[in-house]
Amino acid sequence: MIARALVALPEYADEVVQGLNSARKTLPCKLFYDDRGSALFEEITRLDEYYPTRTELEILRDRSREIAQAVGLPVSIVELGAGTATKTGTLLNAFACRQMRLKYFPVDISSAALGDAKKRIKMDCPAAVVKPVVADFAHGFGFLKNIPNRKLVLYLGSSIGNFDWNDATAMLRNVREQLSPGDGLLLGTDMVKPADILVPAYDDAQGITAEFNKNILMRLNREFGGDFDLSSFCHVAEWNPLRSRMEIYLESLRTQIVSLKALSLAIRFGAGERIHTENSYKYTLQMVEQMLCVSGSKLEKSWFDRRKWFGLHLARV
Ligand code: TRP
Repeated sequence: MIARALVALPEYADEVVQGLNSARKTLPCKLFYDDRGSALFEEITRLDEYYPTRTELEILRDRSREIAQAVGLPVSIVELGAGTATKTGTLLNAFACRQMRLKYFPVDISSAALGDAKKRIKMDCPAAVVKPVVADFAHGFGFLKNIPNRKLVLYLGSSIGNFDWNDATAMLRNVREQLSPGDGLLLGTDMVKPADILVPAYDDAQGITAEFNKNILMRLNREFGGDFDLSSFCHVAEWNPLRSRMEIYLESLRTQIVSLKALSLAIRFGAGERIHTENSYKYTLQMVEQMLCVSGSKLEKSWFDRRKWFGLHLARV
C-alpha cells in the first residue's frame, strides 16, 4: 500500500492554502508554467492580439546597433530569466561586431531551458561564448558577483511588470547592489496604451489565454487531488487604469465547493467570486524613470517601436 500522506507536497502548497483561504482569493502566478502552461504561453506569444513579444523583438532587430553603441564599452552580457534565449541573438551580434570574445551568461531557474538557450545562441550568434548560470532569484543576485568584467544586465519581456511596484523596485535595487560603476541594465517594459488593445492581448479570440489561465486549476487538480470543474470557471482580463495594470482572474460561474484532498481543503465559491492569478503592469516613460531612480540607477536612453507600445531602457549604475 502506498502511504499517500508521506508523499511530499510541492513547496508552494502553503501559498496555495493561504491564497485560497483568504478573503480575496489569489494563486501564485509561478503556477502557470508547468510543461503544458509553458507550451500554451509559447502559443500566446504568437497570437495576433499578443503584441509584446513581437514588438520587443522588432525593437531589438531595428535598434541593436544603436543599443550596443550607447553601451559603448566592452561588456559581458548577463540575461536574467533568459529561458531559451529566443530574442537575444540579434543583440549579441551587434555587440560581437564591436568587441572580441563576447561572453553571454544566460541565467534561469530551468537548466533544461538553458541547454536550449546555449544551442540557440550557437546558431544565432556563433561569435558569442555562452556560459549558462542556473539560479533562483528568490535567493538573490549574488551570482552576479562571480561574473567578471564590466556587465550589461538584460531583463527583457516586461517580466518586471508582473511585480507590484515595491517588489519591482526591490528587485532592481538588489540587482543594482551587485553591479559596479559603469555597468548597465537594459530593461524591457510594456507601455500604457488604450484598453481596446490591452484587453484582447490578455483575452484572445481563440481562447488560448483562457486555457493558459485555467491550466492553473488543472495543475491543482493533478498535484493536490483537486476537483475543480474547469467549465464552471471563466477567464477574466481587466484593465485597471488607476493602478496601471492588467488584472487576470478566474471567476466562478456558480456557487460551488471545491475540495483539494491532499491539502484537506474545501473552498466555497460564490457565483461571480474571483481568484486573482496575475497582474501585468504597463508603464509610462515617467514611471520607468522613477522606478529606476528609486532603485539606484539612472535612465540614460530609451528605444521604442514606431507605435511606442514597448520600450527598452538603458540604465547606468
Ligand atoms: N505575465 C506575462 C504578461 O504579462 C504573460 C502572460 C501573457 C499572462 N498572458 C497572460 C499571464 C495571461 C497570465 C494570464 O504578459
